[in-house]
Amino acid sequence: MTTNLVAAKLWRHAMAVLFVLLFACRLLHAADAPREKLLLDANWKFSHGDPAAAGKMFDYPESDLSKQGAKSEAKENELAAKRPDEVKTNLGGGVTWVQAGFDDAQWRTVNLPHDWALELPFDKGANTGKGSKPLGDKDGTGIGWYRRTFELPAADKRKTVWIEFGGAYRNTLVWLNGHCLGRMESGYTPFYFDVSGLLNYGGKNTLVARVEAFKNEGWFYEGAGLYRHVWLIKTSALHVAHWGTYVTTKVSGAAATVASETTLENAAPQPSKAELVTTIEDSAGAVIAQDKSLLDIPAAGQVVVKQSLPVPSPQLWSPETPTLYVLVTRVQAAGGLTDLVRTPFGIRTVEFTPNGFLLNGKPRFIKGVCNHQDFAGVGAAVPDRVQEYRVAMLKEMGCDGWRTSHNPVNEELLDECDRQGMMVMDETRRFGQYRQPLADLQAMMRRDRNHPSIVIWSLGNEEMGVQGSAYGAEACKVMQDLAHRLDPSRLCTLAINHQFDNDGFTTVLDVTGINYLKLWGSMSRLHEKYPARRFITSEEASTLTTRGLYFEDKPKGYLTAYDTYVPGWGSTAEGWWNYYQTRPWVAGGFVWTGYDYRGEPTPYGWPCISSHFGIMDTCGFPKDNYYYYKAWWTREPVLHLYPHWNWNQVSHQMMHIKLTTALPQAELWCQTASLGKVSAGKKPAEWTLYDDGTIKQLQIILNQVTKEPDGADPKKTKDKVTPVVKQDFSVTAGSVTLNALKPGDAPAVQGSVVTISKEDAPIEVWVQSNLEEVELFVNGASAGRQKVNPLHHLQWTVPYTPGTISATGYKDGKAVQTQKIETTGAPATLRATANRTTLRGDGEDVVLVKVEALDAQGRIVPTAGNLLHFAVTGSGKLLGVGNGDPSCHESDLGPDRSLFNGLALGVVQAARTAGTVSVTVSAAGLKESVLTIPVQEAPVRPSVP
Ligand code: GAL
Repeated sequence: MTTNLVAAKLWRHAMAVLFVLLFACRLLHAADAPREKLLLDANWKFSHGDPAAAGKMFDYPESDLSKQGAKSEAKENELAAKRPDEVKTNLGGGVTWVQAGFDDAQWRTVNLPHDWALELPFDKGANTGKGSKPLGDKDGTGIGWYRRTFELPAADKRKTVWIEFGGAYRNTLVWLNGHCLGRMESGYTPFYFDVSGLLNYGGKNTLVARVEAFKNEGWFYEGAGLYRHVWLIKTSALHVAHWGTYVTTKVSGAAATVASETTLENAAPQPSKAELVTTIEDSAGAVIAQDKSLLDIPAAGQVVVKQSLPVPSPQLWSPETPTLYVLVTRVQAAGGLTDLVRTPFGIRTVEFTPNGFLLNGKPRFIKGVCNHQDFAGVGAAVPDRVQEYRVAMLKEMGCDGWRTSHNPVNEELLDECDRQGMMVMDETRRFGQYRQPLADLQAMMRRDRNHPSIVIWSLGNEEMGVQGSAYGAEACKVMQDLAHRLDPSRLCTLAINHQFDNDGFTTVLDVTGINYLKLWGSMSRLHEKYPARRFITSEEASTLTTRGLYFEDKPKGYLTAYDTYVPGWGSTAEGWWNYYQTRPWVAGGFVWTGYDYRGEPTPYGWPCISSHFGIMDTCGFPKDNYYYYKAWWTREPVLHLYPHWNWNQVSHQMMHIKLTTALPQAELWCQTASLGKVSAGKKPAEWTLYDDGTIKQLQIILNQVTKEPDGADPKKTKDKVTPVVKQDFSVTAGSVTLNALKPGDAPAVQGSVVTISKEDAPIEVWVQSNLEEVELFVNGASAGRQKVNPLHHLQWTVPYTPGTISATGYKDGKAVQTQKIETTGAPATLRATANRTTLRGDGEDVVLVKVEALDAQGRIVPTAGNLLHFAVTGSGKLLGVGNGDPSCHESDLGPDRSLFNGLALGVVQAARTAGTVSVTVSAAGLKESVLTIPVQEAPVRPSVP
């Protein structure tokens, strides 16, 4: 290289550094930027019910009709259109509860996010699908009122001020200083109000929200109340509109172009000249591109400005490299900087094709999961740090996709998906071509469309009444066209579960979303019939497992943790994942679900109050299937052995029941659950029961089965089952006979109950491993070495003898990993461990405390069920507790919670003061565990005092 060339290079380098420094200086100015985003979470007052004087003022008839298909959607829209405008009529403005002078001293103080459903007791009479919480009380626990007073400086007088709700469940009416600001029907859509003209500058302001939770939007636990953040946002009159930046990126070769579309608003009564300066910061904070536009903005008007910025050698966003850039939007006028907005974004390409999905030009199958939003101990009011944990646990398993089933989510979750690298299918709640569904979709997309994690929009889920109809297709097109206008850079899907081959959604959608292969019969048939269509498996598996349990316990509503039990429409983890291996033209698959969630207990109802579909339980404790996915979704060596080896200690009695019948149908019942049916002439029906001592009686019911017409079609018949004889029998071992119904007939039911000795019970031992071979040892003796069949588990059945089982995994003939499980002694001591070593003293940070019981030799007791007590002192508090038990009726608020199959969780939140937080977990007869976590001084997020 010549000296000249070197000098030129150095010069260019020096100029680049100068450029960066200049912009760094400008960034410092940004510190006194006029936009403030203040958290409005602390110190709300809360009460249930409506004031007596309100009468029926807040009723609205159409809310009953939501989610019932085309006919009711039309009806709903018709009724909604007739509803008087809340703002114009100042609905509720005369009610004392919305007024500044109302004395709310008797109301409870709560901090947001707040889910009042969590506080209610479990109730057998309440809707089990929704988590058995008594929210149906229209006058009491079904309604919540929130009040918050705050002061605003007089200097804010000419500013634009918004109040933004991340989402509230549901039908939320909001007032400020006695003025009704509006209503948000959706329990999930984020919403905001421009309150600039209604504020009391230099004085006190009263913000009030009335929230209803007694109507359903979904069929699962949905929470209740202001369960997401509330913000107060202030900026100058000349500003970027709310959600007013939109960034898209184009990659060509090794370079990229960033297109930014900014909506500028001028709230002042006179026109203004403005300069829009848009820059891009790379992940290290260096400014790498800039564009400027000079503009005239009319009085009380808006302009939309398109700019283009080159990024010469972009680092592409992907789950493996989640590189983020920031678009910094500055608005400058004669007086200086008037607004500054930072929009994180990523550069990547996304393609859905009939031959599969490509990210950054490379084919991949999205390894996704669906999730609802609730978590142990906090319900729907999930702290931001817990969102981080929920994404991280799935990433660790090799998951790279999250479907926000079936609703818009917290923005903080999407931030985590951006940061950690998780591709998102972002889904709206309500389908339809009417006002509210379209407004919901629009709000979700305007808030979310800059998140690089989002790769596709979902317009709905299993819209039963309409998915196969021409009317449905029309509505689907209206929604999809709106989505394309709001975001031309992404495609849309919708999760369909029936009616694929007709004039419905499939004819319109960009990408056909498939819920459940079993309902479709064969994917290959569809692919052959419609070779130009793009497919994605929006929902699959629904595998039912209970963490840590290896015998089904129907009365309790528990299933086993083996990958065996599926509902009629579902598949095992192994089943669906094997199927899709050979069909790479499907873009990806989303397991129902990553985490267990409240409500929708399947297949049993009460006492079960949570679902069992999760790969993890409600606390995020992995079930055994987690390791199936980890083995085949990551490249890390995995060897996971189960079940526990404590069969001699389980208090449960194991019984085997065998029945035959001479009559057409007999049914075995245990407590309130049918265990199954036995039919004449078929082989005996057999059950293994796992009884914790609460089963006193079993019952046999003889059913009469007759045919009756099925609905309107006289040609179709269905079985009508009528119980004719019921007989109880005790659960002790012996024979079971139900006498003949008529003299001379054979006995109606015959069978036996056999108690299985725990010492000899045949136990299925499973290993999930991606190594080449695995050998199982029982008390040191080999029980056989097996070759790993890729994408399958390994299984042995061995008689139980207390001691040790171990599995050794081999690769290239060498033993590379061993896992050992021992029969432990009884619990002697507790062990609490935290998922982080320090907390930030910002009043928001959270640590998750896992509690286990250890025996005298320090071994984890996987069957422990001791009742724990959590005591939290110092710079923090206990937010809630959980244990992943789908039938546990202990309060999520704590401070007491039982271990479930050896595990429980405490959710502990830092105070706003530095120091230490001390978590003491105790249980009768056990040595307690004390965990001390340093709480470091940390800036508190800017908040409304
Ligand atoms: C699906 C539905 C989900 C959930 C799941 C349970 O059909 O979309 O919301 O109910 O079944 O398996």
